[in-house]
Amino acid sequence: MNNLILEVNDVAVSFGGVRAVNGATLDVEVGSVTSVIGPNGAGKTTLFNLISGATKPDSGTILFEGLEIHNLLPHKIADRGIIRTFQGAKVIKRLSVLDNLMLGGQDNPGDSLVNFLNPKARKAYEVQCRERAMELLKQIGIERFADEYAGILSGGQRKLLDLARALMANPTLLLLDEPFAGVNPTLVEKLLEVLHALRSKHNLTFLLIEHDLETVMNISDRVIVMAEGRVIADGKPNSIYENQAVIDAYLGTRKASK
Ligand SMILES: Nc1ncnc2c1ncn2[C@@H]1O[C@H](COP(=O)(O)OP(=O)(O)OP(=O)(O)O)[C@@H](O)[C@H]1O
Ligand SMILES: [Mg+2]
Repeated sequence: MNNLILEVNDVAVSFGGVRAVNGATLDVEVGSVTSVIGPNGAGKTTLFNLISGATKPDSGTILFEGLEIHNLLPHKIADRGIIRTFQGAKVIKRLSVLDNLMLGGQDNPGDSLVNFLNPKARKAYEVQCRERAMELLKQIGIERFADEYAGILSGGQRKLLDLARALMANPTLLLLDEPFAGVNPTLVEKLLEVLHALRSKHNLTFLLIEHDLETVMNISDRVIVMAEGRVIADGKPNSIYENQAVIDAYLGTRKASK
């Protein structure tokens, strides 16, 4: 059996004249933490949009657990187990922390008309959903804010909430777009702890976009480097650090900008 959970083959998409992703090929192993790095505008977020179905490729294929998904609607892809978080953690400020989390639940019986008319099913769902949400809030250490507006959370706490919301849907593959950006070091530690605990408990696979190279080198089994819409290097963290193409396209410019 193939141990690849995700296979992206020669995928391309343009917006107007811009080739945002230009023939990207990569794969992700089951149970791994794989990081995508690359300069601004390299096509990383667009790659996530393609995998999650928000953007359709002009060409190429995307397979999840061996089956093609690139023609599916985003909610069908989410149903299969791919859930993403967004660059800049979106929370609904005027909803409570708990309600924000409950929005992440899938299979709400209220979503179908037949079940909508069945109050018992809806009630059972809500109770179950609330329990799971509280459990996750405890795991990420912000249960004391359950009934507060999400607007009062710090940037880092919003990232934790965003992660927990993604987990409400019971994903098998989590796509995290810059989960550590703007998070203070203590909360980064906390986030990493949560990720590790979740990984061993739920056998999750993580594909994440991250700019902070130290964090990337620490947490990743594998690093994929993108530049100008393509994958220019792919390997273990150490090999990436020594790769000349990466140094030229990315590390060099980042070091220079520090
Ligand atoms: N919806 C869109 N319409 C037009 N151009 C777009 C769109 N989305 C992305 N692009 C362009 O595609 C290229 C890749 O953008 P993308 O957001 O995927 O980069 P990124 O690697 O995530 O960058 P960053 O590190 O800044 O988040 C950029 O040139 C961007 O301006
Ligand atoms: Mg981006």
